[in-house]
Amino acid sequence: MNKDLLICASVAIGPRGIIGKDNVMPWHSKQDFYHFRTITTPYPCIFGRNTYMNMPKTPLPNRLNIVCSSAFDNEYINDVFYAHSLESAIDFVKFSGHWDKLFICGGSSIYKYALEKDLIDVLYLTKIKDRILRRQVMKNPESFCYFPYRTDKILVKPKWTEQQIFYDEGILPPESDKIKVDFFKYTRVR
Ligand SMILES: NC(=O)c1ccc[n+]([C@@H]2O[C@H](COP(=O)([O-])OP(=O)(O)OC[C@H]3O[C@@H](n4cnc5c(N)ncnc54)[C@H](OP(=O)(O)O)[C@@H]3O)[C@@H](O)[C@H]2O)c1
Repeated sequence: MNKDLLICASVAIGPRGIIGKDNVMPWHSKQDFYHFRTITTPYPCIFGRNTYMNMPKTPLPNRLNIVCSSAFDNEYINDVFYAHSLESAIDFVKFSGHWDKLFICGGSSIYKYALEKDLIDVLYLTKIKDRILRRQVMKNPESFCYFPYRTDKILVKPKWTEQQIFYDEGILPPESDKIKVDFFKYTRVR
């Protein structure tokens, strides 16, 4: 793809690879919301249709929101760009010339497509540890939506480098006691 445009992705992954339940995230992490807003602002954010249609508040402020759906034909509706394919979403950002970076923000099918096509240069991964949620996943695994790959199998050397991201003390909002959140950045080695 275009070397002048960095293609990033952002995902939060919970116990056993889950990323969603009933089309929303199965946890509420203030720290991950803060992190997501920090890394993605002011860049274009691309969503699959299911994810976007189930977000509580849209569009996300201070970022161009792009929704991928084969039902649309590359058109603007109420300040949101609806792209017919992931490639046309990326091309739209590239040819606008306004940004040097964009974010693919899920869900599962769009992550799978982007990884299969080797489109992602940088993957921001939040690891969510939650013992109660882990038990729920073990009891009822089919009720959850999963990241399409095991990250410990695919985000490995020499294809990817790993870096943990730390915030200075006092920056992150307080998190609920029951979950622990860690931030990582994986960079594709080309
Ligand atoms: N934990 C996280 O960080 C995170 C982030 C985002 C989402 N999620 C979760 O992910 C789940 C949703 O994932 P999902 O796989 O069901 O849905 P999705 O990827 O959000 O949306 C799927 C739809 O997007 C469109 N689409 C996907 N790839 C496309 C492509 N390459 N070109 C054109 N259109 C494309 C298609 O729409 P059409 O059928 O209209 O063509 C497809 O049916 C939810 O549970 C959500 O909460 C989690």
